[in-house]
Amino acid sequence: MLFFKPKSFLGVDIGTNSIKIVEIINSDKKPKLRNYGWLETYGYLERLNDAIQTSSLKILEKDAVKLLKFLISQLKPKTDKVVASLPSFAAFITLLETPLMSAADTAKTVVFQARQYIPIPVSEVTIDWLKVGEREDEEGVKKQQILLISVPNERIKSYQSIFKAAGLKLVALEIESFSLARALVGSDPTPTILADIGGRSTNIAVVDQGFWKYNGRTDFAGGSLTRAIASSVNIDIKRAEDLKKRRGLSGVGGEYELSTLMIPFLDVIIEEVRRVKDAYEKEYQGKIERVILAGGGANLLGIENYFTERLGLTAVKGAPFNKISYPSKLEPVVNEMGPSLAVAIGLGIRNFV
Ligand SMILES: Nc1ncnc2c1ncn2[C@@H]1O[C@H](COP(=O)(O)OP(=O)(O)OP(=O)(O)O)[C@@H](O)[C@H]1O
Ligand SMILES: [Mg+2]
Repeated sequence: MLFFKPKSFLGVDIGTNSIKIVEIINSDKKPKLRNYGWLETYGYLERLNDAIQTSSLKILEKDAVKLLKFLISQLKPKTDKVVASLPSFAAFITLLETPLMSAADTAKTVVFQARQYIPIPVSEVTIDWLKVGEREDEEGVKKQQILLISVPNERIKSYQSIFKAAGLKLVALEIESFSLARALVGSDPTPTILADIGGRSTNIAVVDQGFWKYNGRTDFAGGSLTRAIASSVNIDIKRAEDLKKRRGLSGVGGEYELSTLMIPFLDVIIEEVRRVKDAYEKEYQGKIERVILAGGGANLLGIENYFTERLGLTAVKGAPFNKISYPSKLEPVVNEMGPSLAVAIGLGIRNFV
């Protein structure tokens, strides 16, 4: 618990492929960007064990500390207070419905019900909950929707020790889909799918009335596209990565038809988005109205049009810089940096919006 609100926070996003940091200062108007930085690794494309964070829930703590220390030495932030993200797969998230009751009673009920939903003993997890909706059922009984979030204690300890070793103070941990929702949707009630196309995986979240409601995930992501190019064209990963970024889906001509190599993998991602959309609409009677793309993969040239066409749903690139003020010299690059920094920005503004 913080008794006074610090003037600034570091939003830190530890991905499989990179570490990203933004320093956000509180301000009377929009929260302000003071500084930002990120480091990428390519090792994960060649050797799966090299990922900073692997799906087996194990972070290579030593690597994360080294990269963090280096970034901090460059950024020289004015604060050591960190709000960091947890990958969605690191937590158990469940949407519950209970009769409408006071917050104190809800807290008791939720911890009691948690046993039912968590595959490991309740004593080994930290439980958090959030009220995300209310409705009256067919019999006129008032119900509330509660999001139950459980994170293994071991996972939390590991994050605490990473930041401590890097000389920083972890003040909050948050599921990355929630940070993305804050940075890209905010209080806009439009039912939206957020597709975060990272290096190693794509996370797909449904946000409705400004709240996270549903999650999906696939292991097909930016790295799959790079590997497809590298193996078909027979070039190394680094060159394939450059080629992908330069040409994307648009460019026709040249020696190889790159887009045809990438499309089967993009289609797998799109199918997963469609599955999440159908599942959500069926279960919650909502109607998804748009897709917002995030993660470095959202920068693939032509991806918005391709998603829009295949899904029959408007897909746009996420623009988290709209939520903050920043130095005008950054204007030419915010459009491209936005999708990659969206999680970090959402974390950085957590205490200021
Ligand atoms: N201009 C671009 N065009 C196409 N792909 C791009 C572009 N810029 C970045 N990418 C891809 O984005 C991916 C990295 O995205 P991001 O930085 O969001 O990953 P991450 O957060 O580290 O990974 P994850 O979320 O899976 O843990 C890489 O596959 C990279 O090739
Ligand atoms: Mg990411």
